[in-house]
Amino acid sequence: MAVLGITIALLVWMATLLLISIWKHIYSSWKLPPGPFPLPIIGNLFQLDIKDIPKSLTRLAERFGPVFTLYLGSRRIVVLHGYKAVKEVLLDYKNEFSGRGDNPAFQVHKNKGIIFNNGPTWRDTRRLSLTVLRDLGMGKRGNEERIQREVPFLLEALRKTQGQPFDPTFVIGFAPYNVISDILFHKHSDYSDKTGLRLMYLFNENFYLLSTPWIQLYNNFSSCLQYLPGSHRKLLKNVSEIKDYASARVKEHQESLDPSCPQDFIDSLLVEMEKGKHSAQPVHTSEGIAVTVADLLFAGTETTSTTLRYGLLILMKHPEVEEKLHEEIDRVIGPSRVPAIKDRLDMPYLDAVVHEIQRFIDLLPSNLLHEATQDTVFRGYVIPKGTLVIPTLDSVLYDNQEFPEPEKFKPEHFLNEHGKFKYSDYFKPFSAGKRVCVGEGLARMELFLFLAAILQHFNLKSLVDPKDIDLSPIATGFAKIPPRYKFCVIPRSQA
Ligand code: HEM
Repeated sequence: MAVLGITIALLVWMATLLLISIWKHIYSSWKLPPGPFPLPIIGNLFQLDIKDIPKSLTRLAERFGPVFTLYLGSRRIVVLHGYKAVKEVLLDYKNEFSGRGDNPAFQVHKNKGIIFNNGPTWRDTRRLSLTVLRDLGMGKRGNEERIQREVPFLLEALRKTQGQPFDPTFVIGFAPYNVISDILFHKHSDYSDKTGLRLMYLFNENFYLLSTPWIQLYNNFSSCLQYLPGSHRKLLKNVSEIKDYASARVKEHQESLDPSCPQDFIDSLLVEMEKGKHSAQPVHTSEGIAVTVADLLFAGTETTSTTLRYGLLILMKHPEVEEKLHEEIDRVIGPSRVPAIKDRLDMPYLDAVVHEIQRFIDLLPSNLLHEATQDTVFRGYVIPKGTLVIPTLDSVLYDNQEFPEPEKFKPEHFLNEHGKFKYSDYFKPFSAGKRVCVGEGLARMELFLFLAAILQHFNLKSLVDPKDIDLSPIATGFAKIPPRYKFCVIPRSQA
């Protein structure tokens, strides 16, 4: 009898829970964009393939249209799919959707720095960082020279492999790492430097972990999953280690600061901190500066490094593209001059290849999470403040009208019938609007100059037949992670 009573009570309890959830859902969502019906507690988890959430979002867009609502745990998410909707949200509603959605893996960055800052200091931190980066050469000759100074070190490290197979992850990664280290710390490291290698290992591992199915679950159900063992613990530990490294550099700079002569990014931010330290609510604190530095170091290294690594693999799969690049480089730059940004004008093919690599690899397919900063009426729907917003980038980069056969790697996507470079407004790997990538200019310069320099001096040699190279990412989540591979670089003078 007692068992029957408990069973009935449980059933009644569950039915009540379900009814309350249905009622709450209908009440709170009657003006929200359409979407699949969520279950209590888990929401729409079963409608998503956690191994490839971006693909699931594309499927849901086919069912519900370019603007739809999803629930994951207690998180309400509005997804934008396709050029029009994404651009509208990012550019026409730039303030309304400029908040940053919470990323539990980056708890120690929360509301500090730039990337994961959804608090009142984001705007000033971003603005000041951009000003300082610009003063240090962002978008001007300063960065071009910085990258050009790095080129001989990269080439030397590649020569040292002596035509033997090697994993490019850290050799290639050191080039963007040194460029951003120079900006942030006025520091250059040897390619065998232990600290540099350790940091790059952490960035690389984090980028991978952030894209695994477990972390997709963790980020949406962290309030329960945080108590379990799992790779989220490793991720959180790595994030803290990177932040501790940045904090130590900030402390060092504080001790040696000469306010009349700031040497690098950290010095310049410390000078601003000193100026504002007597205000009631100082915007810049040493912890905030450390998080900003950690943000720029991670974002400034891993994104460019992964793009270059993925790009080289793609070129090995398409030797005919590599051949055309050698021809253009030899014709425009020649065998010894260091590539320059002005060469871009005379090198439409390399320019198109760099664009196509970024389009094809679709590095951050679901962008970074945005958040509605206020109740907003969008296309007749009411999107409440605090709703998470995903302006998907893959839906723009893989638009099949703009880029016919988007699944194929075709530099022709960015070339006109005369072989000249063709601009596309659908090229949005850096997003757009108020949160647009802070390092876009730097990253684009690095990709062009480093790729030009590598191909000017080396032929790429795959260890397997090009047709057996599989370009599919090994993990898709936060980012698309390229397969691990080894290859050889053969000096062209010996080829
Ligand atoms: C291939 C290279 C890169 C790609 C594809 C890329 C892409 C992106 C994307 C999609 C976002 C999110 C924009 C949004 O929320 O709407 C972003 C944000 C950001 N990126 Fe990059 N990025 C790259 C390189 C860099 C570099 C080199 C730096 C640093 C110098 C950098 C620093 C940042 C920062 C600080 C943010 C946060 C902006 C904010 O929240 O206000 N990125 N990036």
